[in-house]
Amino acid sequence: MSIAEDIVPLAQPVLGEAEEAAVIEVLRSGQLSLGPRIPAFEERFAARLGVPHGSACSSGTAALHLALRAVGVEAGDEVVTSPFSFVASANAILYEGARPVFADIDRRTLNVDPAAVAASVTERTRALLPVHIFGYPADVPALEAHGLPIVEDACEALGAVHADGKPVGGRGHPAAFGFYANKQLTTGEGGMLTLGSAEHKAQVDSERNQGRAPDMGWLDHDRLGFNYRMTDIQAAIGLVQLDRLDGMLADRARVAASYREALGGVEGLELPCEDEGGDVRGWFVFVVQVPRSHRRDDVIAGLREAGVQSKPYLPAIHLMSFYRERFGHRPGEFPVCEDVAERSLALPFFPAMTEGQVGRVAETLARVLQS
Ligand SMILES: Cc1ncc(COP(=O)(O)O)c(C=O)c1O
Repeated sequence: MSIAEDIVPLAQPVLGEAEEAAVIEVLRSGQLSLGPRIPAFEERFAARLGVPHGSACSSGTAALHLALRAVGVEAGDEVVTSPFSFVASANAILYEGARPVFADIDRRTLNVDPAAVAASVTERTRALLPVHIFGYPADVPALEAHGLPIVEDACEALGAVHADGKPVGGRGHPAAFGFYANKQLTTGEGGMLTLGSAEHKAQVDSERNQGRAPDMGWLDHDRLGFNYRMTDIQAAIGLVQLDRLDGMLADRARVAASYREALGGVEGLELPCEDEGGDVRGWFVFVVQVPRSHRRDDVIAGLREAGVQSKPYLPAIHLMSFYRERFGHRPGEFPVCEDVAERSLALPFFPAMTEGQVGRVAETLARVLQS
């Protein structure tokens, strides 16, 4: 066995003959963009979440940007959001010249803490942007009490369900999903906005397509727009991936359960929170927090030596150099987020992961933590 084969990778998409056949069909049809697979994918995706509309986009980031525009975020506005997220959720706020106002996270769920959000809302707050981090439902029902527009970053949360039975992304607020290769459903790159409002859908569909008026062909672009379109090739892959989504989600949940069992006895290691109160996680990554007695980067190095990939996930956004320089953020502002970000470690996690691979990762991690 070569060394490369012996490495446990961080992520691996599930793609097969059905995706290949779907791509070939699009290539043979000659309609690679603005074709029939886009509305088909949108309709099936939205129906799965029980919302009236979906708008396919070129990425989750593009979907977030269009969602913020749809709810009326403008230059000078404030948007309250989580500092413990992939940087795109805060960047999308900056695209409109608005300011991300961070609120600290809840130590159990790692999602933005509703009490911290309440303390951060001012008369300048135009919207709230909760992130369903690592696929665990953020407490959107609590945030709804503010009566402010909500944009949900559900890029990591396909398959998650709120305690009241509504799927994450199914409450009618614009909710952005991402389809990068490590996601629950992949189209290589791509995203989807789920929407409750027909007005939002019309605006988003126009703005993703250079601001084109819906009934004026190429003749008129009646607003500023972008090229945030998804291709038909991506939508065709997305349709096949939707067919296999339940199986892929079940496989991720199985791998997570194996990890929980294998790592349960490792002293000081914190595992992802269990589902509580009716909330259901849509498994995306398996992120642990290393004991405070260890340096996370040493643990990564130890795992790498044994052929196990891992990565720090996620760094605190407000402490990234660009955010520090632009907004003057300093360590200590969001203590829970900073503590978690310093210790969080993503382990290999993908639907086809075997018991043997999980066992090997768990044994290696336990050994590295004992040394
Ligand atoms: C929480 C979160 N927000 C936003 C994004 C951006 O999605 P995309 O990479 O499709 O633009 C991601 C994707 O990695 C994400 O994990």
